[in-house]
Amino acid sequence: MSDILKVSIQPLVESDLDEVMAIEKQTFKTYWPSTAFLNEISNNRLAFYFAARHENVLVGYTGIWVVLDEAHITTIAVHPEYRGKKIGDQLLFHLMTFASSKGARWATLEVRESNLSAQNLYKKYGFISVGIRKNYYMEESENAVIMWAGNLRGENFKLKLQKLKESLEKGESNLQEMQQT
Ligand SMILES: CC(C)(COP(=O)(O)OP(=O)(O)OC[C@H]1O[C@@H](n2cnc3c(N)ncnc32)[C@H](O)[C@@H]1OP(=O)(O)O)[C@@H](O)C(=O)NCCC(=O)NCCS
Repeated sequence: MSDILKVSIQPLVESDLDEVMAIEKQTFKTYWPSTAFLNEISNNRLAFYFAARHENVLVGYTGIWVVLDEAHITTIAVHPEYRGKKIGDQLLFHLMTFASSKGARWATLEVRESNLSAQNLYKKYGFISVGIRKNYYMEESENAVIMWAGNLRGENFKLKLQKLKESLEKGESNLQEMQQT
């Protein structure tokens, strides 16, 4: 297990977007324009985005749509210089706890077949691969793996989150502070 870098997680706001775009451009071959993020946080009532900060530096962000009992993770990214420090873990913990609190019973996402780091992260939170979307990433002719996690409001999932929380806390994270945000 790698060392943890404690982050504070807050809803993403417009003034975060320059830092988000800096990470976005370094991370994704086909990246979202800042107008897409702005539209999500300003106009989409079903969308919820969060930024992780360490010492006032925006080090990661994530987003989700929650439609009735279904959640769809739209993005997650950590600044390249801050990866491997459990920031993705803290973001996904926050997102899954949030989705469950909004009434989501299951969650889904697409991830590149080659992106094993992200797939491993999702698996920690109970996601399993349920299918393939052929050539979903058309520029590189790469397939997407569709991942799915169910029963988010069941006892097993609550226990899983509790264990993940304890494991993050053992890494001296400050989840209590994080969850108050
Ligand atoms: C995927 C990503 C968000 C993970 O964030 P991170 O802060 O670096 O990851 P963490 O340190 O929180 O690691 C959490 C878990 O992810 C998995 N993981 C992270 N990096 C990994 C790597 N290099 N190899 C294998 N698994 C890895 C592990 O399961 C890890 O848990 P563990 O430490 O208990 O083994 C980050 O690598 C990233 O921004 N990647 C580029 C953007 C991206 O691919 N987003 C997903 C789009 S679907």
